[in-house]
Amino acid sequence: MTEKAPLYSGKAKSVYRSETDHEYLIEFRDDITAFDGGKKDELQGKGSINAKVSAFIFRLLERNGIDTHFLKMEDNGLMRVKELKMLPLEIIVRNVAAGSVVRNYPFTEGKPFHPPIIVIDYKDDSLHDPMLNDELIIALDIITSEELTLIKKIAHHVNSVLKSHLEKCNLTLVDFKLEFGWCYDKLTVGDEISMDSMRIWEEGTRKSLDKDVYRFEKGDVMTTYHIVAQRIITDE
Ligand code: C5P
Repeated sequence: MTEKAPLYSGKAKSVYRSETDHEYLIEFRDDITAFDGGKKDELQGKGSINAKVSAFIFRLLERNGIDTHFLKMEDNGLMRVKELKMLPLEIIVRNVAAGSVVRNYPFTEGKPFHPPIIVIDYKDDSLHDPMLNDELIIALDIITSEELTLIKKIAHHVNSVLKSHLEKCNLTLVDFKLEFGWCYDKLTVGDEISMDSMRIWEEGTRKSLDKDVYRFEKGDVMTTYHIVAQRIITDE
């Protein structure tokens, strides 16, 4: 995709320097992983679909006054983004009980959360992304209490924009993960928002239309991702 070596390569994306200071290029690769990297595959076309969905969602958020790192999609499929100083946090917003919250606590799958619940994990594969609480986040000197309050406010705002868009597509936004970074002094949404990082159900059912199809072998992953992308990416 690009001849230069990546600056950073994660489980499903690689980041390259661009010719412009403070701008980077993200390659969404076809790699897909689950269970802390315990399950791994390469699915042709997955990267391109996730990049398109992420770009659409970032534009949607920007139109709603939410700062994201997104600048533009390049002709070669790379996403041009602003430089962020990333926080080692995974902000998970849950509208409905599913996944780890059902495995770890006595919630019944499908129970709606009013208001939505925010859970924050420490992003570190070697520690298996342990769950944090507000005191731990502050004691770890990651952000201040005021900044944490702001992150939660932005995460709720992202949720309301995304949830109502998906409702219009007859999809239920069960939960999703956000990552934040500093763009100078502004807390900014980074990383990606795609079928790899959201849990989506067909409205009125619990039919998975996201990475759970891959995790639990619930059907053809690429067929699902194509169908969901077509539904999510509407005329802007
Ligand atoms: O596994 P769990 O139920 O905690 O995941 C909640 C949501 O966060 C899911 O949509 C999942 O895809 C996303 N997630 C993620 N990356 C992680 C952990 C969770 O995108 N490292």
